[in-house]
Amino acid sequence: MPEDVFTAPLKKPEHVGEDWLEPKQANYGAEQNAIWDELFERQMAILPGRAATAFMAGCEKLDLGRGGVPEFGKLSEELGSLTGWSVVPVPMLIPDHVFFWHLANRRFPAGNFIRTRETFDYIQEPDVFHDVFGHVPMLTDPVFADYMQEYGKAGWKAMKYNRLKALGALYWYTVEFGLMMEGDDVRAYGAGILSGPAEIVFAVEAQSPNRIMLNVDRVMRTDYVISDLQPTYFVIESFEDLYRQTVERDFDRLYRNLSPAFTYANSAVIDVDNVVHRGTQEYLLRGGRGSGAEPV
Ligand SMILES: [Fe+2]
Repeated sequence: MPEDVFTAPLKKPEHVGEDWLEPKQANYGAEQNAIWDELFERQMAILPGRAATAFMAGCEKLDLGRGGVPEFGKLSEELGSLTGWSVVPVPMLIPDHVFFWHLANRRFPAGNFIRTRETFDYIQEPDVFHDVFGHVPMLTDPVFADYMQEYGKAGWKAMKYNRLKALGALYWYTVEFGLMMEGDDVRAYGAGILSGPAEIVFAVEAQSPNRIMLNVDRVMRTDYVISDLQPTYFVIESFEDLYRQTVERDFDRLYRNLSPAFTYANSAVIDVDNVVHRGTQEYLLRGGRGSGAEPV
């Protein structure tokens, strides 16, 4: 950990060390395993034809539907043989500098708990379903796996320049809410889209949101919304394209030129954009989630 990086850590639970790792994976009971199975089944009914091919292939390679919450040891073994990544259990959202350190070492921290029936449809804190079902299949893709490691390495630099919000926007619009082209179709590879029932149809098919080709500089200047569907999604050509755009960027220079606040509203379309679909923003204009507007 470089000494010139400022960190404001969350309160660490007594039983975890500096790495914030749980000593072992939680034991899940029958009810909790049933929740995993039902969530899995629900997603599998809506993802084909909307989720990226790489994601669907990853689910199959890791056999995530074998029943119940996957066992991290076995999962890490399988993932390790494919791309050298492992999955490690953490008690809660962990501090940024620890998160980056795990990613930089090809370890994906996953929540050591699962949602309840009361929070079945939406849970703000990432649980094991979001983390393992949403994120881990993508780590079977060698290029995406490398991108995630590079992202981790880029984290401390962003902290040093106090530009974590900007780097966070890149994570948001790629790892969590990214879309990609597959032939003439748009498909989702972002975990925030893939692990829930509502956003996948909206992101890929609805008229409301903008779909704009990814430009790293532009994305890092763009605000995002965490409590509603996205007014804009960014689309990549391929994982190679995403990797190249990111590792070839001189982030020192970029950070020096970025203002601390976001420049663009999350619904904006600007001159330099390569637009795939210009959204009507009808959902947003009708008031979004709070108003009960249809996600059209
Ligand atoms: Fe996530």
